[in-house]
Amino acid sequence: MTKQINYDQDYWNRFYAKQIGLSPSQFAALIATEFDGRCNILDVGCGNGRDADFFASLGHNVLGLDGSQIVVAANQLRINDTPHKNISYSTCRVGLDTLTDVTSSQVDGFFDDGDLVIYSRFFLHAIPPEAEMKMIEELAKMANVKKVYFEYRCGDDEGEPKFFGEHYRRFVRPSQVSKAMQKIGSFSLGYEYIGRGVAKYRSEDAHVCRQFFER
Ligand SMILES: C[S@@+](CC[C@H](N)C(=O)[O-])C[C@H]1O[C@@H](n2cnc3c(N)ncnc32)[C@H](O)[C@@H]1O
Repeated sequence: MTKQINYDQDYWNRFYAKQIGLSPSQFAALIATEFDGRCNILDVGCGNGRDADFFASLGHNVLGLDGSQIVVAANQLRINDTPHKNISYSTCRVGLDTLTDVTSSQVDGFFDDGDLVIYSRFFLHAIPPEAEMKMIEELAKMANVKKVYFEYRCGDDEGEPKFFGEHYRRFVRPSQVSKAMQKIGSFSLGYEYIGRGVAKYRSEDAHVCRQFFER
């Protein structure tokens, strides 16, 4: 029997209703230096779009996906007021909706033909393991996905105080992600960093894992 996958949409809708400010993350600044030429980027769990907007401002084609329809509507409203035509946002609840369906309906006519980059920051730890597995299985089927960039909270972050109080978080084991990405998705691990000092936010210095995959 398939296990029920929950997404706490109410929490995230309330969270984004109060948000302002759009500086890109430290991870996005790093990943931007990895790209050669114009890329097609799918930002999975894009939140308020700070990183997606940043990549679009550099000239990449970006589609931001998030399960919160409030944040997707706010993102779409914001970009309607900008001259950028290389960015769009769409609602997608990973684990419940089919990533491939949502993206293929958007990809036609939006992304250039060619390879797709998956960028996903502080997302894997916000979804249950079943949803993570579904996402990896879907990536496995998307032949045009050549690079995947993850940053997420990992095991040693458990028990540390968090700046943004309680919501669903789990502390992911990097070896499990890389094993699944390699075995199911046929991706190879090109880079891994596990530790602190790269995702500091106010009083928090989260213990994170950064992984770059390619095929
Ligand atoms: C911690 S935020 C990260 C946002 C953004 N990537 C960033 O780094 O600022 C996690 C995001 O995942 C979204 N989310 C959680 N579960 C989801 C799911 N199953 N499908 C899609 N989005 C989900 C939330 O709505 C939220 O925007």
